[in-house]
Amino acid sequence: MFIGDSFYNGLVLHLQQTQNGMTYNNILTEIEGAIQIITINRPDKLNALNKETIEELGNAFSSAEADGNVRAIIITGSGEKAFVAGADISEFYQFSVEKGKELSAKGHEILFDLVENLTTPVIAAVNGFALGGGLELAMCSHIRIASDNAKLGLPEVTLGVIPGYGGTQRLAQLVGKGKANEMIFTAAMISAEEAKQWGLVNNVVPQEELLETAKKMASKIARNSPVAIASAIRSVNAGFKDGVNGYQSEIKEFGKCFGTEDFKEGTTAFMEKRKAVFPGK
Ligand code: COA
Repeated sequence: MFIGDSFYNGLVLHLQQTQNGMTYNNILTEIEGAIQIITINRPDKLNALNKETIEELGNAFSSAEADGNVRAIIITGSGEKAFVAGADISEFYQFSVEKGKELSAKGHEILFDLVENLTTPVIAAVNGFALGGGLELAMCSHIRIASDNAKLGLPEVTLGVIPGYGGTQRLAQLVGKGKANEMIFTAAMISAEEAKQWGLVNNVVPQEELLETAKKMASKIARNSPVAIASAIRSVNAGFKDGVNGYQSEIKEFGKCFGTEDFKEGTTAFMEKRKAVFPGK
């Protein structure tokens, strides 16, 4: 059953309200063990990212990061048609230069950069169209899995604008400059299989298996040291930051691991031939 189902939606919303007192209008949140699932829930607008949705997402990701029990986050879209069909065009089509710049800067700050720099790993389960801001949201996530019907693209130049939530940077990082330029200039959508060949998504699965596949990967991640995973995220991200030496960051993060309880537990468990139970400290 897809999360877009109305009975299920009501149930999840109720659970969420009693979980942390937050009421969201555009997203659903659900906790399964150590996995936080966040679902964008505007299926009639193909989950387009309006201002309120971006704010709610920023809030939900921050809460998940602050919750010491969450060890992986899955972000997906409601319904079978779209992950996210882009930023909500109806909200910005009359914007001025200043307001356009502000829209982009705020989006970077409260959602796209925030997600990339979370120390809790984020898996995007791309369940259909991932266009514009939708693909940008998938790209700032740490890992992407797509359903076989997914279509990915950056159609902004068809609207007279460019990707403004990190797309010009992260697409080039993920697939190389030439392919990124082709995708941005032509505005063409690529299939999930092409996206896999290009290295834009890690894996492609039938749509009905998408969420389960993402949950399986999240569970695998959740068994490992969250402190070490946080260090790994910081190290990998460091290589893509201006003026930061990724190798030096790795050395620093590697050293820091030796002072953690997780390291003691992981190495002791190995020596004692048992499975580690990481305290996450
Ligand atoms: N912003 C605002 N609304 C959007 C949207 C977006 N990015 N993408 C889809 N919608 C809305 C449509 O306006 C429509 O609303 P309506 O029923 O009130 O008219 C609804 O979602 C369904 O979309 P529709 O276009 O009817 O579906 P479709 O199957 O014919 O086409 C797409 C699907 C994805 C090809 C098409 O919706 C599209 O091109 N969307 C915009 C993609 C885009 O340019 N994104 C980048 C934005 S920067």
